[in-house]
Amino acid sequence: MPALTNRKRVLVTGGAGFLGSHLCERLLAAGNDVLCVDNFFTGSRDNVLHLLDNPHFELMRHDVTFPLYVEVDEVYNLACPASPIHYQHDPVQTTKTSVHGAINMLGLAKRVGARIMQASTSEVYGDPAVHPQPEEYWGNVNTIGPRACYDEGKRCAETLFFDYHRQHRLDIKVIRIFNTYGPRMHPNDGRVVSNFIIQALKGEPITIYGDGQQTRSFCYVDDLIEGFLRFMDTPAGVTGPINLGNPGEFTMLELAEKVVRLTRSASTIEHKPLPQDDPKQRRPDIAKARALLDWEPAVPLDEGLERTIAYFRGRFFG
Ligand SMILES: NC(=O)c1ccc[n+]([C@@H]2O[C@H](COP(=O)([O-])OP(=O)(O)OC[C@H]3O[C@@H](n4cnc5c(N)ncnc54)[C@H](O)[C@@H]3O)[C@@H](O)[C@H]2O)c1
Repeated sequence: MPALTNRKRVLVTGGAGFLGSHLCERLLAAGNDVLCVDNFFTGSRDNVLHLLDNPHFELMRHDVTFPLYVEVDEVYNLACPASPIHYQHDPVQTTKTSVHGAINMLGLAKRVGARIMQASTSEVYGDPAVHPQPEEYWGNVNTIGPRACYDEGKRCAETLFFDYHRQHRLDIKVIRIFNTYGPRMHPNDGRVVSNFIIQALKGEPITIYGDGQQTRSFCYVDDLIEGFLRFMDTPAGVTGPINLGNPGEFTMLELAEKVVRLTRSASTIEHKPLPQDDPKQRRPDIAKARALLDWEPAVPLDEGLERTIAYFRGRFFG
């Protein structure tokens, strides 16, 4: 049934997570009705507590591995644990969330004629043999390693999105997100930015895996969400996949030194063995996003880190 007002009805799965909560906030500010669906595996009500009084916001506990019957105009499919600690906790459930979740959300979009976006990941490139990674690169993923439940789940979800598009003419958008950080990251998820900040705020040694020369790129959450919204507004038929991330490349050692400086911590740096399948380099080629969306990250790493440090300090060390 069409909406009775001009407001779009937007479903965000995984809406109580880190990225999802920021997306819900931006969608509400833009005048949409937002239905946030989450099973609270890694997300929490706390992340959207400030939105609960908004009459245009609705929070629903639901697991996307089960079908969902709601009337919406747009779907952002973010539901999936994103950090290795969480997605390796129950790897079968992780694959189910990506694959069954995609099937269920695509089925929903097909039933109601909604446009649907998939939050895919740079992990579909695996340990890349091409650097930086353009969207045309098919990736180098170990199908049987401990990260495969996430990487292959996300790859299969992309396949499903493109098959629904080809077979059922579904209006799809696929974005490949590179490392993103900011307030409301899960404090215990082992991701490098939150890890370093918490270790620095506690005055504990900062853990670096390997020699610290492996590089990552870090996108501030507000920049990423701006990219989501711009891409969702592109004409039907513009499907992606499109890389969204920050091409600035930093070694783990550089990041650790920045965090120590910005937190004014006395923490030292401690080296531990590199985990299996840990990519050596990861950096997005965002030429497509620049050309198509006139988008590029605007928040420098130092500034984003300061905002994230302020969040962690206020929330956990206040
Ligand atoms: N943050 C990043 O750097 C990054 C990078 C690449 C891709 N992504 C993707 O973006 C999305 C959001 O990531 P995030 O960083 O906000 O992680 P997050 O863990 O904070 O958010 C994921 C949310 O999905 C929910 N969820 C998990 N399984 C579910 C299920 N079966 N049913 C319903 N809800 C479920 C969790 O409770 C959580 O609220 C994920 O799909 C992730 O793969 C994130």
